[in-house]
Amino acid sequence: MLKVTKAVFPVAGLGTRFLPATKASPKEMLPVVDKPLIQYAVEEAIAAGITEMIFVTGRSKRAIEDHFDKSYEIEAELEARGKEKLLDLVRKIKPANVDCFYVRQPEALGLGHAVLCAEKLVGDNPFAVILADDLLYGKPPVLTQMVEVFDHYHSSVIGVEDIPRDETASYGIVDGKEWEDNIIKLSGIVEKPKPDVAPSTLGVVGRYVLKPRIFQHIRNLKTGAGGEYQLTDAIQALLADEQVLAYKYHGTRFDCGSKIGYLKATVEFALRHPEVKDEFDEYLRTRSPILEE
Ligand code: G1P
Repeated sequence: MLKVTKAVFPVAGLGTRFLPATKASPKEMLPVVDKPLIQYAVEEAIAAGITEMIFVTGRSKRAIEDHFDKSYEIEAELEARGKEKLLDLVRKIKPANVDCFYVRQPEALGLGHAVLCAEKLVGDNPFAVILADDLLYGKPPVLTQMVEVFDHYHSSVIGVEDIPRDETASYGIVDGKEWEDNIIKLSGIVEKPKPDVAPSTLGVVGRYVLKPRIFQHIRNLKTGAGGEYQLTDAIQALLADEQVLAYKYHGTRFDCGSKIGYLKATVEFALRHPEVKDEFDEYLRTRSPILEE
């Protein structure tokens, strides 16, 4: 059975929820403490054994390519100043055994369409899809858990979590029976259903491990929820051919596509960051309003 060595990162979205911050720079470059969201996502992929990163980009996304490229100026400067630790940190952003590929999604036609743009680079291989604005904290990292499930069952695996019923219209929602602990055999999946018709409260988070047969179904898609080509609908079609599993991951999700989720992530990651955790913790516990109206 083939190992999962490729990950697709759809990063062509406009990030309108973070305007004006995202007017000229990608939302995936927003930092949580000192690391951009996309780097957390790539590190999660690396931890899961993935060595080929495929970014589906759009206009104004050059910063992502630059981030994973060598920066001669910064490296030379840090070397000259003897800043070994920082030099090491910068060099490790893209380890030598990892390759990055970039393909453009010319129009924002939906997640299914974005994944299809990566088809030639993925080929006939299983692959992960990672949505960087879902920042997942897990030990082991969530994609590692999912690749383990994939390796065991040889089926596509979709990351899910229990969400409040009044939020079903923000997620792909799965239907199915719990088969083993935390593993659900899918019988259906629907994109952003209203709470009264949602088949469950298990919402899809931005992690997928997919078998390449999915491309065939993406190519046949008609537009779905929001007038977009939805990956969810292709997964529903894939169910006619093969088994698909949903996996209730162990860990915590921060929805960094929303301001509140992003702020929560910032607080939680800052409270774990060796450089600032003590002072920040003290600040949060003792703070009083310091800005005058
Ligand atoms: C996408 C998917 C949806 C999934 C969500 C997770 O939606 O289409 O099925 O639940 O990501 O973040 P989006 O949030 O991009 O609208």
